Amino acid sequence: MGVIVKGKPVADALLARVQADARMLVEKGAPLCLAVILVGDDAASQIYVGKKHETCAKVGIESRMYHLPATTSQESLLDLIQTLNEDKKVTGILVQLPLPAHIHARQILRSIDTHKDVDAFSMLLDMSGDDLVPCTAGGILELIHSTGVQVAGKNCVVVGRSNIVGKPMAMLLLQENGTVTICHSGTVDLGEKTKQADILIVAVGKKKLITADMVKDGAFVVDIGMNRDGEGKLCGDVDFEAIKDKASYITPVPGGVGPMTIAMLMVNTVEAAKRQFAAAHPE
Ligand code: GUN
Repeated sequence: MGVIVKGKPVADALLARVQADARMLVEKGAPLCLAVILVGDDAASQIYVGKKHETCAKVGIESRMYHLPATTSQESLLDLIQTLNEDKKVTGILVQLPLPAHIHARQILRSIDTHKDVDAFSMLLDMSGDDLVPCTAGGILELIHSTGVQVAGKNCVVVGRSNIVGKPMAMLLLQENGTVTICHSGTVDLGEKTKQADILIVAVGKKKLITADMVKDGAFVVDIGMNRDGEGKLCGDVDFEAIKDKASYITPVPGGVGPMTIAMLMVNTVEAAKRQFAAAHPE
């Protein structure tokens, strides 16, 4: 059977490091505060945002929550972000997605000061070696690294092209010298592509989209799907039971990639605060 790659131990190790860094920053008097903006009442978003606050408290990062009604206008959201951009006590800003349909999400995300953009979605526009990396994609890379598997030279297939996961994932794998193919809903004969993958990353949101015949023997399979099966249990996009003996490594759902996203958000929040403090206090 392949190795089941669990997120919690890797996430816990990152969080321990973050906690030490956060303590050091606070002792120096450096501002360290994450502002989280949630617009509307999306149930899943409320759970995610709640977990982000809980984790901040656990590792010693101050967090502020702005829960705005679904009817919030573009202008008032932009005004809030402007205020937070200018607030020296706030070192990280995150706007939880999805936003209500009347809001122009791209304009909102672009209005966040890039130094405070702990989701790192602006990385797609301007990628250089030491940029913060988007949380889920960065977390997946940490998970892969934790096993000792190298990305360089591998065929990497990313299924899904979302701005939150698919696109940044493909960019990060490319940066690590993987040979990257991006598949999506318009891909003809998906199985032919996924069968080439040494590293297969699936972020679509369709249960059992990836079946055993679509996976190469010994592949590293990362499942980012978050679906409910017929009995209401959480499941990913990959047919885990059928593939776990064929893959050399596979992430479960739940308990695989999930814990890594928030851990990486904490890493980014502390890193952003460190950089802002260093820029304000040149030696
Ligand atoms: N919605 C789902 N995942 C994310 C994420 O990583 N960041 C934000 N801001 N919203 C999300």
